[in-house]
Formats: sequence, C-alpha cells, structure tokens
Amino acid sequence: MSTTNICNHIAIIMDGNGRWAKKRGMPRTFGHKKGAENVVKITRSMKESGVKYLTLYAFSTENWQRSKDEVDALMQLLNEYLDKELKEIMENNVRIVFIGERYMLSDDIQKKMHFLEAESAKNSDLTLCIALSYGSRQEILSAVKNIARKVQNNQISIEDISQDTFSDELYTKDIPDPDILIRTSGEQRISNYLLWQIAYTELFFTDTLWPDFGKDELLDIIKKFTSRERRYGKN
Ligand code: FPP
Repeated sequence: MSTTNICNHIAIIMDGNGRWAKKRGMPRTFGHKKGAENVVKITRSMKESGVKYLTLYAFSTENWQRSKDEVDALMQLLNEYLDKELKEIMENNVRIVFIGERYMLSDDIQKKMHFLEAESAKNSDLTLCIALSYGSRQEILSAVKNIARKVQNNQISIEDISQDTFSDELYTKDIPDPDILIRTSGEQRISNYLLWQIAYTELFFTDTLWPDFGKDELLDIIKKFTSRERRYGKN
C-alpha cells in the first residue's frame, strides 16, 4: 500500500480564542477578533498547500448558550467578515459555502451568506466551507428525517438507503470527507463536528491557540499526514 497520502480537504476546530485573550489580560471578544483575522491568513496559506477544501468551525449550535454579549460579538465579527471578504474571495478564486442551521441566524447574516455563495459559486481554486450554527447530530437527524419522509412518500425504498444516499442528505453533500481534522488549543474532543464525515479522517491535536496557529504549523501537519498509513480498516 502506498504511504504517500494526498490531502484534499482539511477541517479545523478553531479553539482557544478566549484563552489567548485571557493570557494577555484582554476580553474574550478580543481573542475572537484575532481568531477572525487568522481565518483570513490561514485561508490565504491554503494556496501553497494544494488543498482544495477547507472547512472551519466558526460557531456551533451549542455556542448559542454562551453569554449574550459573547454571542453578539461573534455575530458582529461574522457580519463584518461577510461584508469584507467578497473582494478577497473573488481575487483568490475561492468558492464559499456555509453549513449549519441557517434559520437560527439573523435575516441580515443569512442574506449575506446567500449572496457570497451565489457570487463565488463558479470559483474553483479552493472551497471554503464555514460551519455556522452547525451541529453534527442535528445534521444527521435532519438527514434521517428527510430519508424517512422519502420512504413514507414511496419516493425510495428502505433498501435504497446506502452510505451514499445518506451522505447526499447532509449539508456537506457536495464536499468530500476531510482527510485531516485539526483541533487547536490542546483539547482532544470532536465537539459535535462532522461526526459522519470524519469516519476515516486523520486527527491532529495541537496545543497552539487558534490566533497563533500559522502557515508553518499547517504545512507541517500536512507533511506528517502524507506519511501516515491510512488503512481504512484493512490490514
Ligand atoms: C473557540 O474559542 C472559538 C469559537 C467558539 C469561535 C470561532 C470563531 C472565530 C475564529 C472568529 C469568527 C469566525 C469567522 C469565520 C469570521 P473559545 O472561545 O472556545 O476559546 P477558549 O476555549 O479558550 O475559551
């Protein structure tokens, strides 16, 4: 079996913004601001890596339970990001897509998401997938309900349900499964992220806090990945 893997898709849990700010005696929201700046930097560095898909966990369904001030600050940052990024995205031939429970976001944010997706739909160097108000269990439940409805309406039979038809009901239906999942900040959890999609993904955990996670570390992880042996359950 070949020991050189090609990385097509990286997913990242961008953790540690709050601790990054606390270490500097700053409010948590300052950490999120630096985190948002790092989103732009890491997206740029994808060019050098040859990776075609980048999926970022920007806001989980559980994050709605944070304090109102913190949720408002994160929504404000996202809103600014959506306003500012069109130029950068178009110049760099990036297609942007969003996954998650959109209906929970404000109308304003939903409109901007839709606009960016439509404008960048034909771009092809990188697909930047942003998980916003995203929860993997919710995504899986919604897929199960869609499939149950199709069976109930005699559109498909139970025997037609396969891994492929199931994947087609997920938000990520047009996106290949991640090859690499990175979580920053030293936590070793998946936190309701892409549970179906990471069945055979290689996991990397780093102590670096998200605002400090840079291109060198990213390229180093990709290098380590190329020599990992992926057996997919075979021997
Ligand atoms: C985790 O750090 C990070 C988040 C909950 C939000 C991630 C958001 C950004 C990087 C900025 C906005 C994103 C975009 C796309 C503009 P934490 O707050 O859990 O940190 P802690 O574990 O140190 O408290």
